[in-house]
Amino acid sequence: MPLAEPILCKRIPTPPWGDPRDRALVTLDQYLETDGYQALRQAVKTDPKDVIDLVKASELRGRGGAGFPAGMKWSFLPPEDGDRRYLAINCDEAEPGTFKDRMIVDFDPHILLEGIAICMHACRLDTAYIYIRGEYHAQAKTLQHAVAEAYKYSVFGKDSILGQINGRDPQCYVHRGAGAYICGEETALLESLEGKRGWPRIKPPFPAVEGAFARPTIINNVETLAMVGPIVLKGADWFKSMGTQRPEGAPPTVPASFGPKLYGVSGHVNRPGVYEDELGITLSELIENHCGGMRNGKKFKAAIPGGISMGILGTDQYDAKLDFDIGKAYGCLGLGTAGVIVMDEDTDIVAATRNIVRFFAHESCGQCTPCREGTAWMYKLLTRIENGGGTTNDLDLLLELAGSMGSMPGTTICGLADGANWAVRTILNKFRGDFEKRVRKQRYVSLPVAATR
Ligand SMILES: Cc1cc2nc3c(=O)[nH]c(=O)nc-3n(C[C@H](O)[C@H](O)[C@H](O)COP(=O)(O)O)c2cc1C
Ligand code: SF4
Repeated sequence: MPLAEPILCKRIPTPPWGDPRDRALVTLDQYLETDGYQALRQAVKTDPKDVIDLVKASELRGRGGAGFPAGMKWSFLPPEDGDRRYLAINCDEAEPGTFKDRMIVDFDPHILLEGIAICMHACRLDTAYIYIRGEYHAQAKTLQHAVAEAYKYSVFGKDSILGQINGRDPQCYVHRGAGAYICGEETALLESLEGKRGWPRIKPPFPAVEGAFARPTIINNVETLAMVGPIVLKGADWFKSMGTQRPEGAPPTVPASFGPKLYGVSGHVNRPGVYEDELGITLSELIENHCGGMRNGKKFKAAIPGGISMGILGTDQYDAKLDFDIGKAYGCLGLGTAGVIVMDEDTDIVAATRNIVRFFAHESCGQCTPCREGTAWMYKLLTRIENGGGTTNDLDLLLELAGSMGSMPGTTICGLADGANWAVRTILNKFRGDFEKRVRKQRYVSLPVAATR
């Protein structure tokens, strides 16, 4: 079922409810006139624990890529000890194909600030750092201005709405990154926030226990936090009336895919852009109903469901359901950021894969050997294959290389290597014919390393 009314896009004209050309920054006054900060006023009258229970009951899952349940994350915080506790808002958004958080910040930054304030109340946090990617110059300015408005309106600062309730003096800062993709990984983000090189940390300890400045820290994505206000106003059942149920037979501990979602679509469609709809709409609905179909009437070839780390959907998966179970159902890693990259029949999939791996090789922080060396080797192999100098052995070597790296096999610290692995493995498995056409037909010879495994 399509979404009945816009939720995150309530104030941002978005098809089918509005024309993107009418978009303009929502000022604090306009935000207040449209129920703005009502959810915060309601939340601060509620016991913090009950706010966490409400978010838990809604089963809101993180929108930053991993889909971890937000309420559960909030409940991992240790009891207060009188010292500082932090909120880090992940606005790094460097995953290729992902630009949904940018739309919130560009046009309705107060919906994010309201979510931040509610989270600070619920989790009893003192300081929020909005970590925004270095390339978002205009967005950083917009946010800074909105934060200043929020201080004036007493959302943050001395005698704030929060301060009156829990006796704190909550602060909110905008912190600009310097343009490294890895700083979107939550622990690299914390290192960068502390002024160090953005290297992911070994976990545990997890940030909820030992995060920024070795203090308890909650890290959430922009869209996740923007969703909190509407949940507080309308309730968990309302949120759960949208989206898809957990898979049949799965225990209640397995989270479902409830609520609306921002889908950012790029590539070979007639109308690329950010669209809001329920979780669980199909890829074909997204392309046909929201994006005006494939560009120039071309046939669909493939789509990357949520940023390049998630692997690929094949030509026969045009009707894939875009929810958090997409990974198991369609042989990719997951929904990720729902930054969908659509490719038509003319796409050179070998060149696209080489380009994807070039990105990972460039952005690997270099701490883990399988990631640092593996991404670089894959890039070299793919360049050779693209240029017509590869062999069928190279295709198997690529698969072996990809499969040997990633935090899931337990050889790397963070998920970047997994992303490179899933991208290469799924593309090669689903489009092997495209690669075979590019290589010299040479009989496969088992590699000694493969034989010893
Ligand atoms: C290499 C890498 C890059 C990431 N980049 C981002 C990002 O730009 N924005 C984001 O919200 N999460 C990103 N994540 C996921 C974060 O580590 C973390 O899971 C997320 O911010 C948690 O917020 P959520 O639970 O609200 O989704 C990235 C993860 C990895 C491994
Ligand atoms: S997996 Fe890659 S990016 Fe992540 S910590 Fe290791 S080397 Fe760095």
